[in-house]
Amino acid sequence: MTIPSAPLRLHVRAPAPLRAWRFASRILHNLPHLVATRAPRVALTCYVRTALRRPALDRWWDAKERFKQDALRTGVFTHDWFCGNIVYWLAAFEHYRLFDQPLQVLEIGSWEGLSSRFVLDTLPLAHLTCVDTWHGADEHQGASLGLIEEHFDANLARDTHRLTKVKSTSLAFFAAQPPQPHFDLIYIDGSHYSDDVIVDAIKGFELLKVGGVMILDDYLWRFYARRNDDPAAAIHAFLRLKAGCYELFMVYTQVILRKTVESRFDADSVGESGAAPAAAAPHLSH
Ligand SMILES: C[S@@+](CC[C@H](N)C(=O)[O-])C[C@H]1O[C@@H](n2cnc3c(N)ncnc32)[C@H](O)[C@@H]1O
Repeated sequence: MTIPSAPLRLHVRAPAPLRAWRFASRILHNLPHLVATRAPRVALTCYVRTALRRPALDRWWDAKERFKQDALRTGVFTHDWFCGNIVYWLAAFEHYRLFDQPLQVLEIGSWEGLSSRFVLDTLPLAHLTCVDTWHGADEHQGASLGLIEEHFDANLARDTHRLTKVKSTSLAFFAAQPPQPHFDLIYIDGSHYSDDVIVDAIKGFELLKVGGVMILDDYLWRFYARRNDDPAAAIHAFLRLKAGCYELFMVYTQVILRKTVESRFDADSVGESGAAPAAAAPHLSH
């Protein structure tokens, strides 16, 4: 089986009407899956809002292409699951003022280090912890994974002083962490089987500081025979469980949210509607 992804390459931008048409048809295609996997209303609303905001994100196109050019020139990347997300990430980084902050960043699922490299290139004061088994996931069964970890090491070699590499399952990593929240930015992109996604989301959220940002990958991805085994089902369950403890920034191929309140300890500050009061949403604290 081949791994379903595009190779890393530069793209020519399609004309605006064609882009708008592609976008609208993707939304119509995805809505039934989101409804069937019990999307909370807040996610559906944000999904449509994100789609409408998408044209405004084109201003990040050049930055995305510059990153890709540099990655192609100086790195060894055989797969690109990441670069389509860059415009959303840059919008979130700007909105939450993450550039030039000394952030603690956690990434679950690094593969050859393309998203890791983006974090280290774009957030020059950040320290990144990468957790991966480097044994692949369900969708990589039968694929040759021999050089993936070697590629990761080569691609991140110039930034090892800002990098902690942890070769383990996410479950083992979370079990070994002190319980206090200590990450400012968390990217969940490990196993996409819904049981694993919900554990990574819940444990990641526990380690995320109030004011911190969490990004969950592959929200719209469909792979398993049972819909409820796909990431959307887990992400929806997570969003329901933590209602009132986050604000959604974007919902599209990924979900980007900001933690607004500590669910376990600040339960009293969550209103009856499940919405956190505005006062419980401070900016990033370090
Ligand atoms: C889609 S890839 C990550 C892609 C990477 N973030 C990027 O954008 O280039 C998923 C990665 O998750 C890892 N993985 C799968 N299950 C895992 C688990 N339970 N714990 C830790 N890593 C896991 C795989 O080895 C694989 O490298």
